[in-house]
Amino acid sequence: MAKYRPVPLTGYVLRDGAVLKRRAASFYRMVARRRTVRMFAARPVPRAVIENCVMSAGTAPSGANMQPWHFAVVSAPGMKRRIRLAAEKEEHEFYHRRAPKAWLKALEPLGTDAKKPYLETAPYLIVVFQHNYEVDAQGEKIKQYYAPESVGIATGILLTALHHAGLATLTHTPNPMGFLRSLLGRPANERAVMIVVVGYPARGAKVPDIGRKALADIASFFD
Ligand SMILES: Cc1cc2nc3c(=O)[nH]c(=O)nc-3n(C[C@H](O)[C@H](O)[C@H](O)COP(=O)(O)O)c2cc1C
Repeated sequence: MAKYRPVPLTGYVLRDGAVLKRRAASFYRMVARRRTVRMFAARPVPRAVIENCVMSAGTAPSGANMQPWHFAVVSAPGMKRRIRLAAEKEEHEFYHRRAPKAWLKALEPLGTDAKKPYLETAPYLIVVFQHNYEVDAQGEKIKQYYAPESVGIATGILLTALHHAGLATLTHTPNPMGFLRSLLGRPANERAVMIVVVGYPARGAKVPDIGRKALADIASFFD
């Protein structure tokens, strides 16, 4: 086990007063413009953009610094097609048989169904995997700490980085998604948690008319 070895906090920039307020307000304006898009253009996206956004995701904090994530970046048309076909098979079962009525009701305002053409149209699919455990050189399992929380934060940074760069995203969770591990040849300790569909929105793309909770509804302050 590596010993504690402190190094100086480089990279931190102290800001206060008006600058602090301006930056917080401007970040909020930027991030508030993010919407989940379900109609994508085929327009290509440079791979360097995706690489930088995945590196941003990799800066996320994680329990005991385990960094329990893997991002499988798919642009090959053959693999996108296989993912689409497998996802649509599961989603058809979900929408027509498995989903409880209440779940379908909650999905109604979003206009989603079992058809997932964007899994082929969008230039990139980033499949997010969570490490359930690691395996050391001796083949012993190493426990992960707060892996779901850590992967959730990393995925949030990924979505924000992609949005900030100028791309649209969709967080897609085909139910269940065990097929992704076998299709992408990922090891047994990893579990797919999400497909992040990435690209430019289709011309004239529409999104559901949904609202966001106000500050008073999501936060309480103890001043
Ligand atoms: C964990 C998670 C799973 C989601 N799964 C799906 C999905 O499978 N299909 C889909 O169309 N949207 C999915 N969404 C997108 C949500 O429906 C969307 O974020 C929500 O309606 C709010 O819309 P907004 O992202 O435009 O603010 C998912 C979002 C999250 C965070």
